[in-house]
Amino acid sequence: MTRKILVTGGAGFIGSNFVHYLVANTDDVVTVLDKFTYAGNEASLAGLPADRVRVVRGDICDAELVNELVEATDVVVHYAAESHNDNSLQNPRPFLDTNIVGTYTLLEAVRRHEKRYHHISTDEVYGDLELDDPQRFTEQTPYHPSSPYSSTKAGSDLLVRAWVRSFDVQATISNCSNNYGPRQHVEKFIPRQITNVIDGQRPKLYGEGLNVRDWIHADDHSSAVLRIVEAGLIGETYLIGADGEKNNLEVLRLILQAMGQPADAFEHVVDRPGHDLRYAIDSTKLRTELGWQPSFPDFERGIVATIDWYRNNEAWWRPQKAATEAKYREQGQ
Ligand code: NAD
Ligand code: DAU
Repeated sequence: MTRKILVTGGAGFIGSNFVHYLVANTDDVVTVLDKFTYAGNEASLAGLPADRVRVVRGDICDAELVNELVEATDVVVHYAAESHNDNSLQNPRPFLDTNIVGTYTLLEAVRRHEKRYHHISTDEVYGDLELDDPQRFTEQTPYHPSSPYSSTKAGSDLLVRAWVRSFDVQATISNCSNNYGPRQHVEKFIPRQITNVIDGQRPKLYGEGLNVRDWIHADDHSSAVLRIVEAGLIGETYLIGADGEKNNLEVLRLILQAMGQPADAFEHVVDRPGHDLRYAIDSTKLRTELGWQPSFPDFERGIVATIDWYRNNEAWWRPQKAATEAKYREQGQ
């Protein structure tokens, strides 16, 4: 039977990747609900078949609209969020509205209509690890978020857990590490540096660049989410990661090398306040219980492909570049 899937935030980086993934790998019919904030981009959904993907422009905090769309669907996969830590440090309010009230609005609708719900979250809810800590985050790690962004994501996860326990909502949660790949907004680390080099500008490294992120290709995030939607146990949380730990200086050096730049052709800029030191995911549960494996284990090849994508798709990112850099300049970043 053809499934109807409501994907919130489907015009953003990872949500649009999931929509492309569904169209390529299932018979599902998708409705995207997206507010088209600065982070939503119609071009990210261009070329998808109109009989498989419908786009609704709207806010996940709009209870009437959400109710109508949830009633008409089988499954809700909730990606929509304010997603950028630096923005949350400048102006936290939209993070509270979208990440907390938006999630609450969706939960009330799936509760009313008894629909399956999957909640997309982040490893940042666990706070950070020391560089030499042998442990990685697991599903049992206590929540300890640092930024307005991660604390609102943590709050939204806790709402989901409460709605499962109190109201029997049929939900699963996944917490994924840092994604990279095509169609990521130029405010984020990897696309910012690639597009800076294309523009003849020096990449910008926060602090000394020793902070570690655990990189995963967005396609691997999508395959994991589909696996959880299809086989995950209700009420369970699954961590998604691909063993991709690298510090920011290492990632920047890879980009510089792949783009034919000297290894020192970058600037150190003002560090992010409260900057989390290290994230690292142990995805054993997802791999052993649901049999998931990543398909993009080679980060260097993934970075080269991502650089090619930004070189070949300037029309996609160019409209956002100047305003993004102007905002960073005001912050000394
Ligand atoms: P993004 O900023 O690229 O996209 C967010 C999308 O949500 C945009 O299309 C935006 O228009 C939409 N949106 C924002 N507010 C909305 C609202 N009120 N109503 C409807 N739509 C709204 O974000 P992303 O990087 O693709 O992240 C997507 C999800 O994945 C988020 O929940 C984020 O917390 C989570 N996540 C991201 C990463 C990562 O590395 N980027 C890793 C783990 C988890
Ligand atoms: O871990 C998952 C999270 O990954 C997601 O929940 C977030 O939505 C997503 O934005 C991402 O958060 P980060 O803060 O880790 O990503 P960002 O791309 O902003 O930064 C990655 C690292 O690079 C971080 O240590 C800060 C650093 N950085 C970032 C920028 C934009 C720089 O050194 N220079 C920069 O210009």
